[in-house]
Amino acid sequence: MAHRIVLLPGDGVGPEVTDAARLVLEKTSTAHDIALDFEEHDFGGCAIDAHGDPFPETTAAACGQADAVFLGAVGGPKWDRGGPRPEAGLLALRAALGTFANLRPITVFEGLEHLSPLRAERVRGVDLLIMRELTGGIYFGEKVEGNELASDLCAYSRGEVERIARMAFEAARLRDGRVTSVDKANVLASSRLWRKVVQDVRDADYPDVALDHVLVDAMAMKLIDAPARFDVVLTENMFGDILSDEASVLAGSIGLAPSASLSETHGGLFEPIHGSAPDIAGKDIANPVGAILSAAMLLRHALGEDAAARAIENAVSRCLQAGETTRDIGGTHGCRSFAEAIVANIDA
Ligand code: NAD
Ligand code: IPM
Ligand code: MN
Repeated sequence: MAHRIVLLPGDGVGPEVTDAARLVLEKTSTAHDIALDFEEHDFGGCAIDAHGDPFPETTAAACGQADAVFLGAVGGPKWDRGGPRPEAGLLALRAALGTFANLRPITVFEGLEHLSPLRAERVRGVDLLIMRELTGGIYFGEKVEGNELASDLCAYSRGEVERIARMAFEAARLRDGRVTSVDKANVLASSRLWRKVVQDVRDADYPDVALDHVLVDAMAMKLIDAPARFDVVLTENMFGDILSDEASVLAGSIGLAPSASLSETHGGLFEPIHGSAPDIAGKDIANPVGAILSAAMLLRHALGEDAAARAIENAVSRCLQAGETTRDIGGTHGCRSFAEAIVANIDA
């Protein structure tokens, strides 16, 4: 039976990079004899315009029944002036699918150090995985919206920290065996619980994995100062959001960075880490690599198709080596022609 893939192109550059990812998925699935059925649904700002709701019931039902969901990006200035927000739809989607574990790999491939704005010797060998908690913390705590006073509660339960810590330690066992847990335990109670639970899980069940704890402000500095030192970086929701945009620049551009959001009950949600990039939307200049590598993560994590995922990753890396890319990292391709160049490099 064909796997059901729901595509949510969304807003801004979202539809451009989703088309690129779809093209690559179609070509790769044919070459690797994988049957995929695609459905597209309204989500985000375009869904507010069409249905008055960023996450309409029809979209929610389709996502719930899908084997995997792919998202381009949502948001933009049009929906920043009051009324429902596209971003609220994204949070509702993550909550509905239970995607508590957001994997954001950042790799600087050998020979591609020059794409980074940092000196080559500083980024050589960078291969880190940000394991971001995605369905808790300040994003989902009680809110007070007001003109005189506003607040957002950051709460974590032991269970929420335990399950994301386990994901990080399991991932580390398949990599270099090291986890750096990021928190603000010198100030925040939620971080003190975070640090204690992460240490407890490690001591009880993962004594073979090396664990250190770094405060988030220092981590922001160390990610630039010595990024190749890190293996798995474990964070709560908001720290992971911020540090992953920062880390994406190590490889050259936020347009390169993919993500997989995994759940205990669903195949998962796959999206580039960048947003709708309103400043470059509609011009066919967005870098589609983050979206295309997210499609590779979809094949690997949701469908178990590791060889097909690797074929995509190899094709991307071959194009980048050949200087075939978009202008954010010095190339001349448009979004569409870059995707076509990647497709031409996919081995069966
Ligand atoms: P952004 O990630 O959209 O853009 C930041 C900068 O990176 C911009 O200069 C943009 O041109 C550039 N950029 C982003 N993607 C790129 C790509 N693929 N290729 C080349 N350059 C790229 O962040 P922002 O401007 O802060 O946010 C814009 C909107 O996107 C906001 O409404 C925000 O809420 C939303 N957003 C959505 C998601 C998502 O849907 N997952 C993620 C982040 C932000
Ligand atoms: C991301 C985005 C989202 C987040 C927003 C749009 C809700 O920045 O996926 O990184 O903060 O998680
Ligand atoms: Mn973000």
